[in-house]
This record gives sequence, structure tokens and C-alpha cells, in this order.
Amino acid sequence: MSACFLGLDIGTSSVKALLVDREGRVVASASAPLTLGAPRPGWAEQDPEAWWATTGPVIRELLRQAPAITVAAVGITGQMHSSVFLDHTGTVIRPALLWCDARTDAECQQITQRAGGEDRLRALTANAAFAGFTLPKILWLRNHEPDAFARLARVLIPKDYIRYRLTGEMATEPSDASGTLLFDTARGRWSAEMFSAMDLPPSIMPEVGRSAAVLGRVTGEAAHATGLVAGTPVVGGGGDNACGAAGAGVLRPGSAVATWGTSGTVIAPTDAPRVDPRSRVHTFCHVAPDTWYQIGVVLSAGAAFAWLRDQFAREYATPGEATQALVSAAARIPPGAEGLLFLPYLQGERSPHRNPALRGALLGLSLAHTRAHVTRAVIEGGALALAECLDVLRELGCTPGEMLLTGGGVRDPLLRQVLAAVFDLPVRLTTHDEGPAFGAALLAAVGSGAFPDLGAAVAAGVALRPRELPEPQTREAYRALMRRFQAAGRQQQRERMEPGLADA
Ligand code: XUL
Repeated sequence: MSACFLGLDIGTSSVKALLVDREGRVVASASAPLTLGAPRPGWAEQDPEAWWATTGPVIRELLRQAPAITVAAVGITGQMHSSVFLDHTGTVIRPALLWCDARTDAECQQITQRAGGEDRLRALTANAAFAGFTLPKILWLRNHEPDAFARLARVLIPKDYIRYRLTGEMATEPSDASGTLLFDTARGRWSAEMFSAMDLPPSIMPEVGRSAAVLGRVTGEAAHATGLVAGTPVVGGGGDNACGAAGAGVLRPGSAVATWGTSGTVIAPTDAPRVDPRSRVHTFCHVAPDTWYQIGVVLSAGAAFAWLRDQFAREYATPGEATQALVSAAARIPPGAEGLLFLPYLQGERSPHRNPALRGALLGLSLAHTRAHVTRAVIEGGALALAECLDVLRELGCTPGEMLLTGGGVRDPLLRQVLAAVFDLPVRLTTHDEGPAFGAALLAAVGSGAFPDLGAAVAAGVALRPRELPEPQTREAYRALMRRFQAAGRQQQRERMEPGLADA
């Protein structure tokens, strides 16, 4: 029986699992959708129990596809920052507040003040306070649901909650710990000063292990739920952005990767913690030791497309069919969508605006525009927002010669063409093209002893497809569009700066 490594991704729109062999071949793949609750505009919640209830059948299906393999180790990845609140018995107290939840504006201000100002907060954590991070959610619980807060014993990130259900162990690792705003990202340990400034007991956060280290083993109960063998090692894993980058082989300074999932990101690794003095992009620990990355985050990239599809293309039998029909119609519309411009701020925006109160907009709409124009504008708006992130990273010293692409959306040639043109760079896919779950499987391979380190696992398992070059005409069209996009973003930013707007 050949040994494989299981990568499990607890995403926002789905739970996905892969089996990867020692040569990096994807032997089996399974996924199942998740729903996102938006009880109020700007809020985003999910029930952690739904992640676990979905994980069991997804892993069972995966194992059914490859009956002749053994799983040497499991690596877990997932949405970053989202808060699973547990009581002292390990029971979930309320639905998790997600990374794209915008309700914690007031708590962000409270954090900055308690930490002693924004410079001090950056010195302690390498980041400023963003509504999506974990700490503001903990303070929101204390401020708004005191009964629930009184029961709070532990906070876990989604993939760490699934680790707990798989192994009974509560643990995390640096790539997700650094997204909480309670972690000293530069030194790789919880920040005692942050806990004390926030008046929170350090015991609410779990122990931090290494991303490629075995942090637990599958329990008998979890074996029953998933079909895995009891005792199978589970490694630390990592946040979805770090694992997506690792899965594309982006571990070293000079390389860069853009992801297009529910969110969109541009990621540039660094070999020392480098902090944007204006906090337009974040600084987190990578899944390779002594490596960090800077990341620009667009909250609604694939999410904006999914919103359009689910609201305005309901005649198709499946989301897959609707996506295909929408994208092929959009490919026939010229770049710039004949004057239609989309601002993708459906849940506010992180980079570069740091404003949860921003909202989406379609500008320049006329009777001549069709659904295909709107689709094209939605794709272009997400891509332009990513190009703004790259501009910030370039300003901070990252000058990649090409952009790796990963995440579900980048399989579509139209999106790749648009991204190459807005980045003004060659873009490139990996041959496996599987996103964060692949990086988590590579970490599992390292943890099982198959490779000495992540670099060796990447060398053995990650191969790149040929470069795709930007089309000169499209590139020119997007230069002008970018100026309009940035001017419109700045105007919204000026109009929507009052605290509390995001809760309205
Ligand atoms: C990154 C972020 C998102 C989520 C998506 O800071 O919040 O990219 O990780 O799952």
C-alpha cells in the first residue's frame, strides 16, 4: 500500500480534502459546500459544528476514491482569523465570527488605545488592528455578549478546531497565531504584554507548535467519523494563505503569489519580519521556520463573483454551470466593460483602505450594459483591487518577476488574462493547481518524515506550468481603468470614515 499525505482545507465556501503522493501527484480529491450566514450587513458567521459535520463525509469520500493507499499524516489548513469560542468543556458557545466580519470597528479602536497607540501595537504584533482579526472578535464578545464571554475558556482558529475534533488536542502554529493580534509575530511567541493590555488571560489561546510538527493523533471517535485510522499523525498545518503560498512553492523572498478564493490576496515572503509603517498590508509568519510574509487582502474577490452568480444567474442547475456561462459571456466583452466599473467592497476592505465601512458599487451603469458586462466588471474590480495590493508590496520592496496564481478562480483563463494585465507581469499556475490543501499535504509529508523540510517537499512535489504573458492592449486599457478605480476608492474612503458606519 503506497503512503499518501492528506491535506484538509476548512474554507469559507467549502471543505476540501486531497490525497497527495510523495511525488506531488494528487491521487484523490473531494469537497462539499458550506454556507455563510450574514445575520446583518457586514456580519459573517458560520457554525463550527457544520465544518466538522462536513469534514467527516468529505474525508470518507476521499478515502473511497483511493482504497489502496495509507494516510501517513494529515495536514490542516483553513480560513484565518475566524474565532471559535469554546467553554471549559470544549463546547462551542456561539457561531464563529469570520475573517470577513466587519462588526468590530469600535473594538479595533479600543485595542489600539489599550496597546498604547498604533506604533506600539505594530511593535508588539507586527500589525495594526483590523476588523477581521481574532482579538477584536474576543473583545466584541466581552462588550456585547457578556454571558457568553463569562463562559469563554478557549479561542481556536477554524483549522485548529478541526484539529481538536480530530485529535482531542488544542494547539495552533505560528502562521495562524500571527493572525490573532495576540502574537509577537517577530519573535514567534504569544505576547504577554498584549494579553495584559487587553486584560485577557493567556490561557484563552492554545499552545503554539511548528507547522510541520506532529501536534496530535486521530482519536478512535474521529476515526469512526472520518474513516481515518486511529493514531494517524496530524501536523500543525497553517493558515490558508500561508499553505496556498507553500503549495505554489512560494517560500523565499523575491517570489510572489496571488490567490483568488472567497478573498483574494497577494503574498510576498520575507526572511525577516517587515512591517508596512502605514499598515495597508499585514505581516504574518509563514509555514516555513524563520520566514514571514507580507500580504495584501481583498475581502471579496471570489465572494463578489459568487454573490453575482447566486443572485442573478439562478436559471442554471448548478453553481458550476452558472459560473461557466457567466464567465464565457464576460470573455466576449472588451476590457473595461464599456465604461462599467465595480468596487468590490461588499464586506468593507482591508488593503489598502483598512475600512470595514466601505461598500460595493457599480459605477457608470447604462441601459446598454448587460449581465455579461456586470460579470466582466466584477472580475476586473477584484483584479484591480489585487493590483493595488501589489503596488503597495512593490513600494515596500517586493519586485517579483512573475506572479504565481492559486485558488479555485484562477483555473479560468479570462481571470488569468485580466490578472496578468493588471499586474503587468507574467502569471503562472502550478501543475497540480489545488490551493491551500496541497500546501497542507506538503506539511503533512514533512511531518511524517518523508522530507527533511518544506523546501525539499516543494522541490519534489511542485511543478510550474508555462508563463502566460500580459496582452499589451489589455494592459494599456487597465492602466486607465486603474486610475478611475483608485480615484473612486479614495472618494468612498473619504465619505465612509465615521466610526460605526459598518454596523449600520
Ligand atoms: C487573510 C484573510 C483571508 C482568509 C480567507 O488575512 O483574512 O484571506 O484567510 O480564508
